[in-house]
Amino acid sequence: MAFVRACGLSELEDDTPRRVELDGTPVAVVRSEGEVFAINDICSHANVSLSEGEVEDCSIECWLHGSSFDLRTGKPSGLPATRPVPVYPVKIEGDDVLVSVTQES
Ligand code: FES
Repeated sequence: MAFVRACGLSELEDDTPRRVELDGTPVAVVRSEGEVFAINDICSHANVSLSEGEVEDCSIECWLHGSSFDLRTGKPSGLPATRPVPVYPVKIEGDDVLVSVTQES
């Protein structure tokens, strides 16, 4: 599984998603509750960028219709979204946040 650098750890502010594109895949990188998560940036309900939504309690909320996705599993907590969003493995090396988009975690 190939990890690529997504951003610097020091560039991430708590609960403020950062959108990056890795191998053509849009990814929202989020530091929340002391951990870093990588979740596909597109809502599973419609083509909306999740990184423009709010983060709270390890969940990211889609700003359009309000479904929240667990940053650990990608599962929606409520309607209208019913399908999970892919989440990806993250590794921290020094100040580098590395993400593998070739395999969903
Ligand atoms: S587009 Fe995200 S919940 Fe509808």
